[in-house]
This record gives sequence, structure tokens and C-alpha cells, in this order.
Amino acid sequence: MKLTNYNKIISANWKMNGSLSLIDEFKRFFTKNYENLNNDIAVIICPPATYLYKFNEVIKNYNNIFIGAQDCSNKENSARTGDISASILKDIGCEYVIIGHSERRNHYNEDSDLIFEKIDCALKNNLKIIFCIGENEDEKEKLKTFEIIENQIKNIFSSACTPLNTIIAYEPIWAIGSGKTPKVDEIETINDFIKKKLKSKYNDNFSNNYKIIYGGSVNTNNYKEILLSKKIDGVLVGGSSLIIDDFSKIVNFNKY
Ligand code: PGA
Repeated sequence: MKLTNYNKIISANWKMNGSLSLIDEFKRFFTKNYENLNNDIAVIICPPATYLYKFNEVIKNYNNIFIGAQDCSNKENSARTGDISASILKDIGCEYVIIGHSERRNHYNEDSDLIFEKIDCALKNNLKIIFCIGENEDEKEKLKTFEIIENQIKNIFSSACTPLNTIIAYEPIWAIGSGKTPKVDEIETINDFIKKKLKSKYNDNFSNNYKIIYGGSVNTNNYKEILLSKKIDGVLVGGSSLIIDDFSKIVNFNKY
């Protein structure tokens, strides 16, 4: 199914966490629950790169469950000790890669130029991207959220991104791992703003099809409200994706 045809996208970002036994827990969960999962919901699990191959064995027979990497190199295969290229990720069964996560922007000084190169490598190798954007606390207080977001999505304008290969994840940095979240109507306003900017840039209606998901302290207290919004196309879940009971509630948001 095309990315644009999914109703909701639920992605798990394990960050530098997880274990072989957590993969087994997910395996048991999918074996037991797959038949009941709506097939218009895409589930994308992004474990550390070392676990991708094994996780792919777990999900390869499920149509709407995918694996994604948390990052890729900005270079094609070459002498880059320690790096992992988009083509290697594709080779082991990856469908998605997260690019531009604020933890990479902040801890590794990833700037717009580098992020653009990563987007380019990912798309050239037929990976789809989960492109993260969002303001920090200081920028929020100075009412710069819209300006920051507009600057960050310029990478989309200048790249080969389309609604068929790109998910935009709005992740306010102050909300990540903090237990704080914007109100649902604030997220909706940001999503409307992103859609408006994409539409005016491309001057077409196809840009309306970009999936815009939310990330930052999504947990068992707030997932329903966020996922039931018609203007929010899904979630990117960090901490709560490491607890299978919590993640299973989120995946089954429309059931209970
Ligand atoms: P969190 O992380 O759910 O732990 O806040 C989300 C993310 O950084 O993708």
C-alpha cells in the first residue's frame, strides 16, 4: 500500500535502547495481535541499527509493519568507518529512516546541509524518510516556532521528497522525553501551517497528502486524544515504545 493511503502511522523510536529480549516481546505481540490490527495503520519500528536485521525476520510476513533506521550516512558506500549507508539499510530490508532527529541535530551538530545530503542518499536508495522538525523551549518562548519550522521544511522543498516517500514528524524539542506535550489543537495548528507552506511552495493539491505525525512524550495518558485527531496522521513514540504493554495500547488506539 502507498504511504499516502494509510490512515495512521505509528512509529517506535527505540533510540539507543532495546535488547534481543525486547525484540522477542514484540514478536510475541505481533504473532498474537496481527490479525486484529487494522490494515490501514502502518507500524514502523526503529530499533538500533544492530537489531534491524533480526527485527526484519520478525516482521517480514506482515504487510503493514516495517522496520526503520534511526539515521543514515550522508555518503554512499565508501571508506567511512562506523557509518551505515542508505544502501546497506535497504539491503537488509529497511523501508524507512529517521532523518533530522533533534538529538542528532543537537549532539552531533547536524545542520541543514548535512540533513539535506542524508535525505538525498536515503531517497536515492529508495528508503522512505521520517523527517523530524520542531522548536526548542527558548524558541517557543520567543514565539519563533513557525519561523523555525518553516526554515526546517526548506529541506523538503529542495529535495526529491514527495508525499509518497516522506513522513514529516513534528517533534517539539521541549516535549521530547519531558512528559510535557502541546495541546492537541496546538499540534493541529502546526500541521495546518506545514500543509499551507507545502501547498504554497508546490502550488498543488498533492502536497495535502503529506503525512504529518507528532512526537514528544506520547504515552498511555495522551495517545488516544492525539491519534483520534483527524489532523494528526500518527505518532513517533520514544520512551513508551520500549514497554510492550504501553506500545500495544497505542497501536490499538481505536479499539479500547
Ligand atoms: P519520547 O521521544 O516519546 O521519549 O518523548 C520521542 C522521540 O524523540 O522521537
